[in-house]
Amino acid sequence: MPYTNSAHDQNADDNGRAEDEGAVRRMYETAPYPDLGADPKDGRAQFEPVLRHLGRRRELRFLDVGCGTGHLLVGTAKAYPDWLCHGLDLSAPSLAVAKELAERHNVKVSLARGSYLDPLPFETKTFDIISAQGTIHHTADPVAALTALRGALADDGLLSMHLYGLRLDQRKFDTKDILSIFEPDLFNHERRFRLYDQLMRFQDRWTLRRLASLSPLDVYITTRNWLHNLMRRGRRVSWSPPWTDRYSEPDSPWIDHFCHPCERAYEVPDIRELVTASGFEVVEMLGQGRDDPRWLPPEWKTHYDKLDPWDRYRLMELLNPYPLSFRMILRKTA
Ligand SMILES: C[S@@+](CC[C@H](N)C(=O)[O-])C[C@H]1O[C@@H](n2cnc3c(N)ncnc32)[C@H](O)[C@@H]1O
Repeated sequence: MPYTNSAHDQNADDNGRAEDEGAVRRMYETAPYPDLGADPKDGRAQFEPVLRHLGRRRELRFLDVGCGTGHLLVGTAKAYPDWLCHGLDLSAPSLAVAKELAERHNVKVSLARGSYLDPLPFETKTFDIISAQGTIHHTADPVAALTALRGALADDGLLSMHLYGLRLDQRKFDTKDILSIFEPDLFNHERRFRLYDQLMRFQDRWTLRRLASLSPLDVYITTRNWLHNLMRRGRRVSWSPPWTDRYSEPDSPWIDHFCHPCERAYEVPDIRELVTASGFEVVEMLGQGRDDPRWLPPEWKTHYDKLDPWDRYRLMELLNPYPLSFRMILRKTA
């Protein structure tokens, strides 16, 4: 595993699990995530690609694991009012935000506190769509977590998952390590933030030099992402700033980015191991590893089309100069 600070990854026993889960719960009880903005996320944008593969869209049993403050869960319940929507999370304060959000938007969702490493606490035991956004990389045992979720997925059901991509986040982990050299206590948010702020102020002086070295494609992609985020803010869609933003206080997203006590980041070979070990296969890669002919010499196309899918995903990861996080749709292997 290229990056991990999980206790269970060092010590794969019950103590390791208890240590990770206790630290993760403590962090999200101190800093519920994302808890940004009053408006839910756009459930339709998230699940239309899943529905294209599912082939049906009415009265689905939906579960969002690690639902946090419920912005996606409530947005999904609003977008698909006939779905049975469930949310599970370790953090009681996050679930309190989710409950309030659901009431404000007048949607019905079943919320429960617990770990998806344990048997699910809902009356409904099988789900058509399970969503796991930004959470499996924080659990003590990702293979055990996905195996448990597989057990709760209908045979023709789909799992939608987001995981950190190491290539996108390497500099974030470097910054986290720099802060840890001076202040190893990940829960001393104030001191870690002071160090971060000093570092950012210092590095700002280099920004002009960096701007001068950007290529036209860099400028295009940076401007496009900036406009996209500006529009999301304009529409008041709940949105969590990326770690590359400049933070002015140690709020929940900052703590999530720079003080997390249990997280991992992946490259395609690690994703392959995780997905196959837990009895899943990829239906579609939507983020890192997705098909993008822009990065492929045209002479390679015929050969590329014949490659094993995992070799295609890896090739794209190696060729694409603009790394992404992993967003994927999975189904159970037969
Ligand atoms: C980064 S937040 C993501 C929240 C939300 N899915 C989103 O994308 O906005 C990760 C969430 O996963 C939850 N979590 C981590 N491990 C968990 C577990 N084993 N069982 C339930 N929830 C868990 C945390 O409490 C936290 O709220």
